[in-house]
Amino acid sequence: MKILVTDPIADAGLERLREAGYEVVTAYDVEGAELREEVRDAAGLIVRSGTEVTEDVLAAAGELVIVGRAGIGVDNIDIDAATDHGVIVANAPEGNVRAAAEHTVAMAFAVARSIPQAHARLRTGEWAKGEYLGTEVNDKTLGIVGLGRVGQEVARRLSALGMDLVAYDPYISAERADQLGAELADLEEVLDRADFLTVHTPLTPETANLIGEEELRRLGGGYVINCARGGIVDEDALAAAVEEGVIAGAALDVFAAEPLSEDSPLLDVDDVILTPHLGASTEAAQENVATSIADQVIAALNDEPVLNA
Ligand code: NAD
Ligand code: MLT
Repeated sequence: MKILVTDPIADAGLERLREAGYEVVTAYDVEGAELREEVRDAAGLIVRSGTEVTEDVLAAAGELVIVGRAGIGVDNIDIDAATDHGVIVANAPEGNVRAAAEHTVAMAFAVARSIPQAHARLRTGEWAKGEYLGTEVNDKTLGIVGLGRVGQEVARRLSALGMDLVAYDPYISAERADQLGAELADLEEVLDRADFLTVHTPLTPETANLIGEEELRRLGGGYVINCARGGIVDEDALAAAVEEGVIAGAALDVFAAEPLSEDSPLLDVDDVILTPHLGASTEAAQENVATSIADQVIAALNDEPVLNA
């Protein structure tokens, strides 16, 4: 049986599939007719965030049993179409949580201390010591939107660094938030109180553009970090808010359209720092999600229960 892998995953995952006797075909950066042709005889399809698994792709995949996402977000997979075609969709929800949380913390420091900007100046020979006066996280308030797996790990880390925590998540209990030392509040109150706002929800119709012009005005003066999904924070509004000094800065790892277009207004604003969707890009995280999704694909093809379907 053929398993098609269309975004790079760690070798450990590919090896696990081969050891289980499957033919593993890697075809990175394929789309359109080429993707439909590759998937035609595949029993399993493994993707990260790069491949759009649309109705067209699923309709072309006559033998497909499972689409495995080597990571958390399944917003690049048409789940309704998969259900219509009787195809299981599974993800790997645990393996990259710590990596994403650490990246979020790194982005908080990077934007608060202008580390990328100062580094770039130093590389061109400028000793711009007098131009960067940063902000400490100690004694500041962290507003967390989405207190799930990643949000909770961020809460633990930044609380240990002296931050007060206030969170907006309509789906978790006040008791759970309390265990983390976070106070639950509505979004308006979180925006009013936060010095740093970090977003950790999935991208859904409810969270699309959740943070727009009005919310940024309400945050006023603070920093915004998005290492969750592009589209939760309105990019045009964010670029304008930083440019106009409505907020102090922003750090983004994810974008509404990836790769980020050269024309994005985010690239023109000094106090916006950007990474190319690197939140899960650690060796440990990649090995974790690759082996976890390989196990689930193997389970599905053996008619065994799939853990994260
Ligand atoms: P999760 O499902 O464990 O947590 C998401 C939380 O968001 C839940 O607690 C949920 O109740 C809450 N939520 C849902 N809708 C909400 C709303 N409208 N308002 C407020 N809260 C809402 O997910 P996770 O594993 O913590 O992942 C969080 C996000 O991070 C996802 O978008 C995931 O794709 C992304 N992620 C990105 C990277 C990266 O490489 N940058 C890596 C890992 C995860
Ligand atoms: C995820 O949702 O797990 C992230 O987007 C990580 C990734 O696969 O790049």
